[in-house]
Amino acid sequence: MVDLSVEICGLKFKTPIMPAAGPTTRDGDSLVKAAEGGAGGLVAKTVSTTLAHVPRPCIIKVKDSLMNAELWSDIPLDHWLKHEYPMAKQTGLPLIASIGYSAEEVREIAPKVAAAGVDALELSTHYLSDSAPVVEATKAAKETVKIPVFVKLSPNVPDVAQFARVVEEAGADGIVAINAIGPCLAIDVENAMPMLGSSHGHGWLSGPAIKPFAVRCVADIARVVKIPIIGAGGVTTGRDVIEFIMAGASAVQISTAAIIRGRKIYGLMADEMAKFMRAKGYNTTNDLKGIALRHLPEQPFRTTAKPVEVIASRCNACGLCERYCLYDAIRVVGRVAKVDSVKCYECGLCVSVCPTRAIRF
Ligand SMILES: Cc1cc2nc3c(=O)[nH]c(=O)nc-3n(C[C@H](O)[C@H](O)[C@H](O)COP(=O)(O)O)c2cc1C
Repeated sequence: MVDLSVEICGLKFKTPIMPAAGPTTRDGDSLVKAAEGGAGGLVAKTVSTTLAHVPRPCIIKVKDSLMNAELWSDIPLDHWLKHEYPMAKQTGLPLIASIGYSAEEVREIAPKVAAAGVDALELSTHYLSDSAPVVEATKAAKETVKIPVFVKLSPNVPDVAQFARVVEEAGADGIVAINAIGPCLAIDVENAMPMLGSSHGHGWLSGPAIKPFAVRCVADIARVVKIPIIGAGGVTTGRDVIEFIMAGASAVQISTAAIIRGRKIYGLMADEMAKFMRAKGYNTTNDLKGIALRHLPEQPFRTTAKPVEVIASRCNACGLCERYCLYDAIRVVGRVAKVDSVKCYECGLCVSVCPTRAIRF
C-alpha cells in the first residue's frame, strides 16, 4: 500500500498535491471545489490590504501554458476572514493563506488571517526581486503569528538558492518555488495589440513552459536550505509531481493545469503518482524526496558516446524517433526501431520523445 501523505511543518497533507494561489482558489467556493477534486491541502488566492484592480483581459493561453496579468484578490479582506477562509476550513484540509506584500501590509494582515483559523501563511513576493523587502516581510510575519510561514519566491532573482537561504535565515518555515515568470509579452497579430490589458501588455508565464526552470530552482534551493520546499511551476501529471519531489520538494502546488484541465486533476495526479510508486517499489512520498540530487554533479556525467538501445518489446513502431533524429541514425525497420550506432550522436532527443519509453541509454 503506497502512502502519499506528507507532514510539512507539523501540518498533515493527505497527498503532496495542492492548488497554488490563483483563480482556482479565488474564494471559499473554489477552495471547496479543489478539495472535492482530490487536493491534499489548500492554498488560497493572495490577499492584501487593498483590493486589486485587475486589468482585463488578464489570462491568455500560450500553447499548453498561460500568461496572466492577474493581481491579488479583488474580494475584501474582511470577507475572506468572515466567509471565505471559514468555508475552506470546513473541508478539513490544511489551509494556507497567501498574503502580500510589504512588511507593513504583512504586519497588518497576518494576525487577522491567523485569527481566522488558517493553518499557515504563504508570503507572495511576486513583485519583489530584491531580498531586503522579502526579509522584512518574513520577519514581520514571524513576529506577529505562531503558525508556519512559507515564503513564495519569484524566479526574477539572480540567484534563487541564495535568496532562499537569506529567507531561511530571516525565519521562514518553508519555501514555495516558483511564481510565474516574466514579464512576458504576447501580441495579437490581427490587430497589433497586446493580448493582455496590463501596462505595456506585460504578463507572467506559467504552466509546462516553465517546469524545467522551476525544477532547477527547487533542486538548487534543496541543496542549500534545511526547511521544506513546496514546488510549483508547470506541474501537470503525476510524474511531474514525482520529478519535483525527487528534486527536493516536499509537496507541489498547481495552478495552470487545474485551470486548463479542471479541478479533478489533483486526485488524478495522486492516482498516477501512486501507480508509478507501486510499479517502482516506492512506499512513501518521503522515499522519493531529493533522491535525484545526488545525480546532479557539478561536472557533466560524460562527454563520450554511449549507445542508445531500443527495447523491442516496448517499441510500437510509431516512427517518432525516426522523425526527430537529426543524424539519420534511427529507422523503423519492420515493426521496430533500429539504431545505427555509428551515425548516432547520443543527443538523447529520441529517448525523450519515445511515447512508450522503448529507447534508453
Ligand atoms: C491566473 C493566475 C493567477 C495567479 N495568482 C497568484 C496569486 O494571487 N498569488 C500568487 O502568489 N501566485 C499567483 N499565481 C502564480 C501561481 O500560484 C503559480 O506559482 C504559478 O502559476 C506556477 O504554477 P503553475 O505553472 O502550476 O501555474 C497565479 C497564476 C496564474 C496562472
